[in-house]
Amino acid sequence: EMSEEEKTFMARIEKGEKIEPKDWMPEGYRKTLIRQIGQHAHSEVVGQLPEGNWITRAPTLERKAILLAKVQDEAGHGLYLYSAAETLGISRDEMTELLHAGKMKYSSIFNYPTLNWADIGAVGWLVDGAAIMNQVALQRTSYGPYSRAMIRICKEESFHQRQGYDLLIKMCQGSPEQKAMAQDAMNRFWYPALMMFGPSDKDSVHSEQSMAWKIKINTNDELRQKFVDQTVPQAEYLGLTIPDENLVWNEERGSYDFTQPDWNEFFDVIAGNGPCNKDRMAARINAWKDGEWFREGLAAYAKKLPLRKQA
Ligand code: 3HC
Repeated sequence: EMSEEEKTFMARIEKGEKIEPKDWMPEGYRKTLIRQIGQHAHSEVVGQLPEGNWITRAPTLERKAILLAKVQDEAGHGLYLYSAAETLGISRDEMTELLHAGKMKYSSIFNYPTLNWADIGAVGWLVDGAAIMNQVALQRTSYGPYSRAMIRICKEESFHQRQGYDLLIKMCQGSPEQKAMAQDAMNRFWYPALMMFGPSDKDSVHSEQSMAWKIKINTNDELRQKFVDQTVPQAEYLGLTIPDENLVWNEERGSYDFTQPDWNEFFDVIAGNGPCNKDRMAARINAWKDGEWFREGLAAYAKKLPLRKQA
């Protein structure tokens, strides 16, 4: 039985109204948003690590400038998203501590290593491509601050996707060795990119409720299919082979049939056992410790300011 408040809330959701921080909302709605936005913010922050790894080794000054800008954008995305989550009554420090304690997640994709320069292209093209597919839909999410953050993030994310694709065009038109590096990157990133959309709909615990609240607009499988359909022609243009022998156009459905990722691998990665989970967490925890003196200094300075004004 729904309370009056809940009925009014659901009517607003159904009309497509945005819910704002001071509006009444069910506790489950608030908690789901903190989980999803917080996880999304953590993904942006942890997502800097695999690419940051290549900044010092970018092959040209131009590529280095592009990569630096992109990694800085990811930091910015993390900050907007932490701010959006803070409007729901949790602080950024609390979310950080929950991440470090293993009580909040970040995207599975960032637990895979970037082994060669072409991986930077594959991350832009496939990983950011998958992220945009999800984030474009989230621009219409029912929570106002999240929806507005997504609009700006999508613009920057499109640049990231384009720079990755551009990098791969250069490599695919280069020497046979460069083309082989691009194919190797594609082989390693294809299935992890498909996993970014989350488990298949039958195993997605949150989708039904999140869609009723219009936190999520599409199911995990719908977005995964859209991503495959969009990406196949892009791979063909590059002359790269998608590592899936069962990938075939299905005339009846007007979509590609494809092999699902290995879901055991996915659940293993999100349980903490992917190739880089330990490194990623150690890097974040060390960065948090290393920054402690600076955070303390900022807080001490902020306390002094009002006293100075009085004087
Ligand atoms: N990685 C890690 N965990 C995942 C996951 C993934 N790819 N997909 C699902 N999960 C987790 C869920 O968090 C949930 O676990 P929990 O209950 O402990 O939180 C469990 O698996 C079951 O999945 P559900 O389908 O029930 O979960 P959701 O309804 O939350 O759907 C989602 C998953 C589609 C990823 C959704 O949370 C979402 O749309 N999130 C916002 C987008 C996001 O986080 N993007 C990060 C991608 S990368 C990025 O943005 C950075 C890049 O730009 C560099």
